[in-house]
Amino acid sequence: MYFGRAIGPYESELVANAQLLSKSGGGILASDESTGTIGKRLVSAGLENTETTRRDFRELLYTGEELGKYLNGVILFHETLYQSTRRGERFVDVLTKQGILVGIKVDKGLKPLPKHPEETYTEGLDGLEDRCKEYYKQGARFAKWRTTLKIDVGKSLPSEACIAVNAAGLADYASIAQKSGLVPIVEPEILIDGTHGVDISAVVAEHVISAVYEQLRVRQVLLEGTLLKPMMILPGSSWPEKVSPELVAAVTIKAMRRCVPAAVPGIMFLSGGMSEEQATVNLNTINILAKSDEKELICPWSLSFSYGRALQSSVLGTWGGKEETREDARTVAVSLARANSLAQQGLYEGPHPTTLQVSNLIEGFRGWRDPADPDHKI
Ligand code: 13P
Repeated sequence: MYFGRAIGPYESELVANAQLLSKSGGGILASDESTGTIGKRLVSAGLENTETTRRDFRELLYTGEELGKYLNGVILFHETLYQSTRRGERFVDVLTKQGILVGIKVDKGLKPLPKHPEETYTEGLDGLEDRCKEYYKQGARFAKWRTTLKIDVGKSLPSEACIAVNAAGLADYASIAQKSGLVPIVEPEILIDGTHGVDISAVVAEHVISAVYEQLRVRQVLLEGTLLKPMMILPGSSWPEKVSPELVAAVTIKAMRRCVPAAVPGIMFLSGGMSEEQATVNLNTINILAKSDEKELICPWSLSFSYGRALQSSVLGTWGGKEETREDARTVAVSLARANSLAQQGLYEGPHPTTLQVSNLIEGFRGWRDPADPDHKI
């Protein structure tokens, strides 16, 4: 039975901001890694995980020339929302001045799912409304909540329990975020780990994403004021064959068309362990196919990026914590954003600005909270 929606006073603002985040030629930089996750990256680049180092790195990411041309939004971690540049300008103001919307990670990380020790659910519903209200006051206009699902065909994963719990959590979060004026990014990340092929990935993604939209419907979430952040449809990282960007693009579009409502303004893919170049090339190919005249490839949403690793890895490598490499690192950050802005329009031609010689950016298993490291909220 339909009783009418009660989204609250933010309804038109949510719709306008979701459209801004989906604006053609722009995407999202996900720089909301928890202290533990960013720390592992800093340490592996030979740096210390201190508040100052985290601030200095993020300052490089946010202050490059003309960044606002390529990014519609940047997602911050709690600490970063309250930080300022070396010169004392709040990051929130630095970004807002460039026309970039500020986002905030509002989940509190992953926990093992009771009775399903290999799977996780996402913590953070307690106190969420108060946190969202406070973040809105600080200048945030959108939010992110990450859930992860693991494919293991032999073990029948993801389990129905894992899908149901995470879909319900995403819907709870989305309705609370909207009530507080934040556009919710809905992120059911299907992890890249696994030995499955692309066809299994597609079946699981369709199942999971459909379950998420069913829960969003039950919670009367205003779809026009949301964004979806899925993984592209790729084979598992241990699948022995290479797949072409054309195949990835075709199966990704097909899966999204089957389960993402047309009312959603944007699908912002995560990079999930793809190399920087692969993330750009796949996004470009998706957008070329979506613009082709083929009826079964027509897409009603903007198809864009909300990348973490694929927009940051070369920046960190170039900087390495040194004063004399800061300008070069800032330039790399803008070049990576620009390459993906072109890819969002299907206009990327290369060469790619990556400075890394790696075939992927997989960081071990990112679906767990490490019990030996309770502060490591992924
Ligand atoms: P990656 O692009 O590195 O997968 O990170 C995106 C993200 O924000 C995951 O939540």
